Amino acid sequence: MTKPTIGIIGAGKLGTTLGKLLVDADYPVLISGSGSTDKIALTVSVLIPGAQAVTNAELANQADIVVLALPLSKYQEIDSELLKGKLVIDAMNYWWEVDGLDNIYSDEEQSSSEKVQAYFQDSTIIKAFNHMGYHNLSDDARPDTPDNRKAQIITGDDQEAVKVVETIVETIGFTPLYIGDLKNGVILEPGSPLFGASLGVEETQAIVDEELEKV
Ligand SMILES: NC(=O)c1ccc[n+]([C@@H]2O[C@H](COP(=O)([O-])OP(=O)(O)OC[C@H]3O[C@@H](n4cnc5c(N)ncnc54)[C@H](OP(=O)(O)O)[C@@H]3O)[C@@H](O)[C@H]2O)c1
Repeated sequence: MTKPTIGIIGAGKLGTTLGKLLVDADYPVLISGSGSTDKIALTVSVLIPGAQAVTNAELANQADIVVLALPLSKYQEIDSELLKGKLVIDAMNYWWEVDGLDNIYSDEEQSSSEKVQAYFQDSTIIKAFNHMGYHNLSDDARPDTPDNRKAQIITGDDQEAVKVVETIVETIGFTPLYIGDLKNGVILEPGSPLFGASLGVEETQAIVDEELEKV
């Protein structure tokens, strides 16, 4: 079966790491940065051979699935119309050093992904790939064996889209762990014991259960 084309917005640490795993798993990958393709072409050719550097507009036009791998404070630079009708994976976190001290993107009442969903109102947002650091994403992927896999936590309100993302997670070598609606993403944000974790499914599930009791 032909794999969907995945477009990654943000050619930084997370975007390039995820891009490499996806290319290795035979997904067609497009990746864009904040400016022209010239700015990221060398990085992409070295770190993700096989991926194509494109502009945000080209990516939106050609990708079946889009990953937001840019700073949380920058997502409104992407015209929401561009991603209309798409499944969009939100891998972003609020990080004060990058996003500023005024935490308007995330609070205890609403997960950052709910805010992202409100902005990209005609897209389907699924949260994934946000809680694990990029080093772990790279080092702990086990695409060749189902044994000793680490959990990748997923939240989302649309079950069909969740299944699509679960397949991607499995294909690149992790076990998907769906923990409910986008609102539950509050337990994955900086400050949570899940943020930065790279653990097996049972261990992750135990922490998820504890954290969900608190909200
Ligand atoms: N680093 C991790 O381990 C990790 C893990 C999970 C999730 N995350 C999340 O993933 C996101 C990216 O983190 P990162 O560590 O990869 O950051 P990073 O290395 O600083 O990369 C961010 C990338 O986003 C690009 N960008 C900024 N504005 C853009 C725009 N309007 N359109 C397209 N691209 C744009 C930047 O391009 P320029 O350089 O041209 O500005 C840069 O390539 C953050 O939300 C972070 O919380 C990070």
